[in-house]
Amino acid sequence: MKDILATLLERGLRPYQRVRRKHVLDQALDDPSPEVRAIAGVLLDRMNGSGPSDEGPDAIRSIERIRAEMRASDEQVEMVDFGAGPAHVERTPEQMSRGVSSMARLSVMADRASSPPEWCELMFDLIRRLRPGKCLELGTNIGISAAYQASALRANGTGELVTIEGAPGIARMATRTLERLGLAQARVLCGRFTDVLPEMLRKEGPFDLVFIDGHHDQYATMEYFDMIHPFLSDHAVVIFDDIRWSDGMRQAWRGLQADARTGTTFDLDRWGVACTGAARNDGRPSHMVPFP
Ligand SMILES: C[S@@+](CC[C@H](N)C(=O)[O-])C[C@H]1O[C@@H](n2cnc3c(N)ncnc32)[C@H](O)[C@@H]1O
Repeated sequence: MKDILATLLERGLRPYQRVRRKHVLDQALDDPSPEVRAIAGVLLDRMNGSGPSDEGPDAIRSIERIRAEMRASDEQVEMVDFGAGPAHVERTPEQMSRGVSSMARLSVMADRASSPPEWCELMFDLIRRLRPGKCLELGTNIGISAAYQASALRANGTGELVTIEGAPGIARMATRTLERLGLAQARVLCGRFTDVLPEMLRKEGPFDLVFIDGHHDQYATMEYFDMIHPFLSDHAVVIFDDIRWSDGMRQAWRGLQADARTGTTFDLDRWGVACTGAARNDGRPSHMVPFP
């Protein structure tokens, strides 16, 4: 009983408060790669309770006000989902390619499909510290994580985000979210990832930061990484969301960790973070696992 209570309490904590192996992050502060040092620094700051500085709090409040409005809304939006669907449903490759249509409640998207505030804040801080020039997001939904990324870019005074969403009604909604927040740093492209990526990557690459937050399927995740990898800059960071979403995603993450192209990786429990330019075999651990 005590154990169950402890686990439930721990789940409620922000991710960085659950860091148990602080020494992993302390050691990463001496890593030769600037992006590994930056990520470790952000995690340590968050662990110590420091939040985003300067423009962060105001920008975050404005985004969370919009999320709260959407949560309270009874509006429904037409959804064509080209993703893997809920973890317990096994969609066929054919279904994912054709898309599954339904009406989706805005409140549910704001609540469950969008990244939780604590992860969005972590993204905000990472972008502030890494100062990427070009960012790419796969899976815009209603634009919450895109708004955090664009706000951090605005605070940096440089950089832009391209974000891709397959469902047209949802993509329009995301554009509206970004417009309401006055965030010209982000552009929403509408279409299936596999259709949009080839030309967009050629035209807009190389990318410094990529957030893969859609189509949580083992083979699709590997395919997107294969497509994107040639268009990454030398010091790129790729964030894979929901690496424990399903058995398939757990396998995808294991495969990615074993893949030399992912460089040095951080396993943040929900996110897998790959510093693709960080050389391995320098005697330091290449997989950083600060969580239990
Ligand atoms: C988890 S939501 C993204 C949440 C958003 N990044 C946030 O945190 O605010 C995933 C989105 O990806 C879109 N998506 C999934 N598979 C896709 C595909 N193959 N092509 C285009 N969009 C896709 C879905 O329609 C959905 O809106």
